[in-house]
Amino acid sequence: MRKLIAAAALALSACSTASDEIASADSTLPISPPPIARCMNLGSALEATYEGEWGYTVRREDLERIKAVGFDTIRLPVRWSAHALEDAPYTLSPDMLARVHEIAGWAETIGLNIIINVHHYDALNDAPEQHEPRLEAIWDQLAASFAGASNLVIFETLNEPHTNMSVARTDALNKRLMQRIRLDNPDRWVILATANWGNLDALEASRPDYDPRVMLTLHSYTPFDFTHQGAPWADAPRTGVRWGTRSDLKEMRADLDDAVEVQTQQRMPVVVGEFGVYEGVPVEARVRWTRAMRTEMEARGLAWCYWDYAGSLKAYELETETWIPEVKAALLD
Ligand code: BGC
Repeated sequence: MRKLIAAAALALSACSTASDEIASADSTLPISPPPIARCMNLGSALEATYEGEWGYTVRREDLERIKAVGFDTIRLPVRWSAHALEDAPYTLSPDMLARVHEIAGWAETIGLNIIINVHHYDALNDAPEQHEPRLEAIWDQLAASFAGASNLVIFETLNEPHTNMSVARTDALNKRLMQRIRLDNPDRWVILATANWGNLDALEASRPDYDPRVMLTLHSYTPFDFTHQGAPWADAPRTGVRWGTRSDLKEMRADLDDAVEVQTQQRMPVVVGEFGVYEGVPVEARVRWTRAMRTEMEARGLAWCYWDYAGSLKAYELETETWIPEVKAALLD
């Protein structure tokens, strides 16, 4: 079924703009190797309205620790919408900009790529007409502010558009944001947002313009009832969902094969920007899924970002200041 939808969408794209045709049909365009391989999400910090509110504040030693065990990248979710004026010119808070520059500076010194995104812009999903101009202005400011940063700084247009941000609307927004970002950042790697919470169907239906320094993204918490069982914010069973049968693994592999197919069609690398299992799930089960995801992604050459370092799907325990050894091993051994 998924393939049928993809074929229909491809046929449609042939009637659309020239760049759409090139993006989905010109198999001679090079697929650039992604600049990242193993990446850790620093969730629960600047993802909250105020850093620290959710129990985690980013420290330089966290970046050093992440680098030391073998990650090459961090993804920094930032709730910029809580730090910009509500009305034009939508000025970003200088303090928040300075804080993100501080963290980006640490990453650059340590030699980690850092993905800076726009996270939890909930109002945009509810009222895109009203909020898209604000997001464009936020990106104008971010693009100008980081124009002089090294190529270790990577942008990501928006986290998990959903609700009224359809695939078409997200594609159109990505195009406008790219035009603006490219004015000051002609060569910077950018990750484009994928609609429907970053899921596979939306990734397959999306028709982004080809750019040799763009990555597409997939968020995978499938099956959600397993990865999010017990998570207080999720609509999932409390407990008792298992994962790991032959058919579970087959489904995981099929999804990742489809992600690779998107990469081949669109000629741009796909990064799995979020995947992980809620901390309340027994560690053996968390690790079974996480290790399977990691090895299956790496077998296909897909870059990935684990969700997350010290939040609710954590790999690192702040209370004891130690990695959770099983989760760390599932990601890196
Ligand atoms: C959300 C986080 C959440 C995670 C796992 C992310 O996209 O921003 O708040 O913890 O997904 O559900």
